[in-house]
Amino acid sequence: MNSILIKNIKTLVLAEEKPGLLKRGKEMADLPCIQNAYLKIEKGKIASFGRMEAIPIDLHSDQTLDATGKMVFPAFCDSHTHLVYPASREIEYVDKIKGLSYEEIAKRGGGILNSAKKMKETSLAELVDHAIERLEEIKNMGTGAVEIKSGYGLDTDEELKMLYAIRKLKELSPLTIKSTFLGAHSIPAQYRNNQSEYVDIVINEMIPQVAGEGLADYIDVFCDKGFFTVEDTERILMAGMKYGLRPKIHANELDYSGGIQVGVKYNALSVDHLEYTGDAEIEELKNTETIPTILPGAAFFLGMVYAPARKMIDAGLPVAMASDFNPGSSPSGNMQLILSMASILYRLTPEEAINACTLNGAYAMGISEELGSIAIGKTANVFITKKIPTIEFMPYYYGSNKVNTVILNGEIV
Ligand code: NIG
Ligand code: FE
Repeated sequence: MNSILIKNIKTLVLAEEKPGLLKRGKEMADLPCIQNAYLKIEKGKIASFGRMEAIPIDLHSDQTLDATGKMVFPAFCDSHTHLVYPASREIEYVDKIKGLSYEEIAKRGGGILNSAKKMKETSLAELVDHAIERLEEIKNMGTGAVEIKSGYGLDTDEELKMLYAIRKLKELSPLTIKSTFLGAHSIPAQYRNNQSEYVDIVINEMIPQVAGEGLADYIDVFCDKGFFTVEDTERILMAGMKYGLRPKIHANELDYSGGIQVGVKYNALSVDHLEYTGDAEIEELKNTETIPTILPGAAFFLGMVYAPARKMIDAGLPVAMASDFNPGSSPSGNMQLILSMASILYRLTPEEAINACTLNGAYAMGISEELGSIAIGKTANVFITKKIPTIEFMPYYYGSNKVNTVILNGEIV
């Protein structure tokens, strides 16, 4: 395996001397940077870094990259996606423009159920092929780690098929991938009037098989108005936890659903979406291990209210931001765009936004000991930018790809 020396780096971003697992509240404004820096990568790991003036004279490497005028960032950690899916859903998007709400579309059998119908007609190989293309696309925009959920299957065989696809992607892709079982993503039409029967299937049929085959790292439930209730969620999370599956849940996207509270109660790693978050929910999240995760792409695309990210950070909470890449509510996995949305729509400073999309995203996937920042011994997942004038330029110059070179596990990819 090649060793790589990157020299003359204009700014080495989020280079931690004392790495922490996440940043909370005021700490999110802290983005340790080194100007005119070098970075040495060896055996896939960060071996050393520092100022160019202090570069050891005997430092040799198999390959040297000159980053004059360019910056080096830790690769993005996108902690919430649904990027394994059978087909795009742009027709619904037009319905949305014409005025139908997300819930109205779901009621008409559109939305997630539409994807579930198409899932049955899609082979495992097709799912993998399409997802590989999406992974390639997000990698080129700087993402190095991604969480992917099931949840377009909605019956045991189809959910398993999605999880097999994610397992295959873990094998094939240079990205670090975490998989989440989301059997409780929507209620199939035939269980509309008997929702608890579907919950029983998730608990008694799906979870044992998913866990038995080691197909999921986490478990998720869409706990919201018109989807799964707090009671359904509790039952599913308890069943999952018996198999060691920690929750990462969809909560409070459509209403004050109690999803945040139930997530905290079951020590969820993250609670995600959070458009409907009030003072009570913020209080509940304080002094917990659960990281609130905001998905700006979905709120933007669906024209929803924006989660109170600023208020959360000012209250001392950590915040992660992720793409929610999916065909219905956020058809983009571009984390550079998420950086821009974080600052423009949610009033995070560029420093806070970068922490939210890297280190805190890594925490929300349970991998921040290994990834999410530049620290000695961490996996070498970084990107080199094009020539850019300042860190602030990253969120400011929105819509174009500022990433030039991506290095994952110490290899240029
Ligand atoms: O995170 N909120 C629930 N689930 C997805 C939407 C998936 C879809 O519409 O296909 C989300 O936005
Ligand atoms: Fe989602």
